[in-house]
Amino acid sequence: MSERTHTYWDTRHREHDDLASGGHIGLDRAGNEIFYALRLGTLLPLIGDLADESAPLFVLDAGCGKGHFARALARCGHRVDAFDASEEAVAHARAEGGGPRYAVAALDEWRSPWPYDVVLCIDVLFHVLDDRDWAAGLRNLASLVRITGRLILTDEDTRTRRPRGDYILHRPTAEYADELQRLGLRHTLFTPYGFRENEVGFHVFTRTR
Ligand SMILES: C[S@@+](CC[C@H](N)C(=O)[O-])C[C@H]1O[C@@H](n2cnc3c(N)ncnc32)[C@H](O)[C@@H]1O
Repeated sequence: MSERTHTYWDTRHREHDDLASGGHIGLDRAGNEIFYALRLGTLLPLIGDLADESAPLFVLDAGCGKGHFARALARCGHRVDAFDASEEAVAHARAEGGGPRYAVAALDEWRSPWPYDVVLCIDVLFHVLDDRDWAAGLRNLASLVRITGRLILTDEDTRTRRPRGDYILHRPTAEYADELQRLGLRHTLFTPYGFRENEVGFHVFTRTR
């Protein structure tokens, strides 16, 4: 991640509240409450409703921001690792506690001795503008998914590249699918957020080999 991007995220996490900094910067508090609640409600069925204390799902939240989703999934009984490139965000997440194990790392840096049942990457990859960083991050996330496990990431479901402003590049679904297919992950589902005019949603990739 470039120094400029790093500074952008640290500043955004320092200057905005826990929801706006990782949610939608243009929404007020109530709007972000709805945005997070709606996405959590859409995400949970994609992960599954089995949360057995003796056999929790092992979940990674990559680019966790201040840990909103990581904490929610820990409350639902899952065992959660979470990381983000922003020290500011991770310090905030750690202070909140709630179960997840946090680290500071970039998408292409995180290593784990064990694979995850589910790897999440929510509203991060379309903020990674550099194609090499994007591909390296995506490949690393794929390597962390156990066979038959899922990589759930978010972007629009589009056929064309759609840059928006300084920090957003929506990539075609085919670019994700091509990169992941050769690593044994198949695109199995797209579920849109269904939030106002937002066209982003959850792409589910299942590891088959
Ligand atoms: C829009 S926020 C989303 C945060 C969180 N997933 C959520 O939904 O609340 C994007 C996050 O991605 C992180 N990020 C951006 N590029 C990253 C990278 N290459 N590696 C790790 N984290 C990154 C930023 O620091 C920021 O916390």
